[in-house]
This record gives sequence, structure tokens and C-alpha cells, in this order.
Amino acid sequence: MKNILSIGGSNSTVSINKKLADFTSSLFNDSLVKSLDLSLVELPVYSVQLEGSSGIPEFVIEFANQIDGADLLVVSLAEHNGFLTSGFKNLLDWTSRIPGRKTFGEKSMFLLATSPGERGGATVLGIAQNIFQYQGAKIKNTFSLPSFYQNFEDEKGITNEEILKDLKKIIEEISLN
Ligand SMILES: Cc1cc2nc3c(=O)[nH]c(=O)nc-3n(C[C@H](O)[C@H](O)[C@H](O)COP(=O)(O)O)c2cc1C
Repeated sequence: MKNILSIGGSNSTVSINKKLADFTSSLFNDSLVKSLDLSLVELPVYSVQLEGSSGIPEFVIEFANQIDGADLLVVSLAEHNGFLTSGFKNLLDWTSRIPGRKTFGEKSMFLLATSPGERGGATVLGIAQNIFQYQGAKIKNTFSLPSFYQNFEDEKGITNEEILKDLKKIIEEISLN
């Protein structure tokens, strides 16, 4: 049994990346999935002064514990102006401040992205693939879903058969390791 933590890197209540992360997580056999809903998280914007005066918020410690309890992180990144969304970056900044911690706790990660556009968040995906390894993520593979609204339906998940086949092949490879 694999414990999966599914994360959409967006605080939108209708996040397409949360949908993709949750759908992808559901394709892993023999797994227990916990899904993080960033839209429910109220976290002050990180500042050195706030950390000094108030310490690290309780939710951030909980988030780190959830990472530590997982065997695999399935993370789908929303792209805002070519980068991580402010909400997700803020959470990562706070988490990195837990003493002695690398943000992602040396956990295996399947890194995804999607957007309504044809590039499917490829820019932020490439950046994160580069930088997350220094933040304690062991990235097993990446996957970008282009043109979300043409290729995904809420009840069915990914509707494009070729794309779904590609995703399932990656999941099979990750599951074998
Ligand atoms: C401030 C802002 C900046 C955006 N910048 C990009 C971008 O650089 N590339 C892109 O593909 N989409 C961009 N978009 C569109 C997002 O991909 C789209 O809103 C998507 O739904 C975000 O993912 P989410 O639903 O998981 O939050 C942007 C949207 C906003 C609101």
C-alpha cells in the first residue's frame, strides 16, 4: 500500500491542477490518497519579521507532517506568469523554514502541470523540475496536460486516449520503483 499526497499548486477553489493531481493519484493501484486543498488554507505572506514574531504557523507543520507520512507526492503546478502561484510559493517558503528541513523531505515526487493553453504549464514545470531537487524532492517523472478544457472532463478525467495512455505508462514505471 502506497500513501500518496495529492497537491494542486493553486489556491483556486476550482483549480484544474487539483483536479489533475487527484485524477492522476487515483490511477495508482493499491494506494491511499490524501488530497490537499490549498483553497482552504489561510496562510500569511512569509516575512522574516513575521517568522521572528509569531513563529511558523501550525498548518505549515501539519503540511510537513503530511509530506513525511507519504510515500509519493503527486504535485500539479498551476502556472502564473511563467512561475509558481503566490499561494503555493508562500507555503513552500514557510515550509523551508522548519529547522533542519528540506521542504519536500527527500520524498519521491511525480510532478505535473496543466493549463488551459497549449503549453500546459510547461514553463513552470521546467523551472520546478530544476529547483525542487534542491528542496528535497526526488522527481521520478514529469507530465504536462495541454489544453485542459479540451482534454479533461470532471466526471471522466482525461478524455484524450493517447494522452491517458502516456500518463498510465509513466504511472506504471513509477509504481515499479
Ligand atoms: C495571474 C495569472 C497569471 C497566469 N499566467 C499564466 C501563464 O503564465 N501561463 C499559462 O499557461 N497560464 C497562465 N494563467 C492561466 C492559468 O493557467 C489558469 O488560470 C489555470 O486555471 C490555473 O490553474 P488552476 O486552475 O489550477 O489555478 C494565468 C492566470 C492568472 C490568473
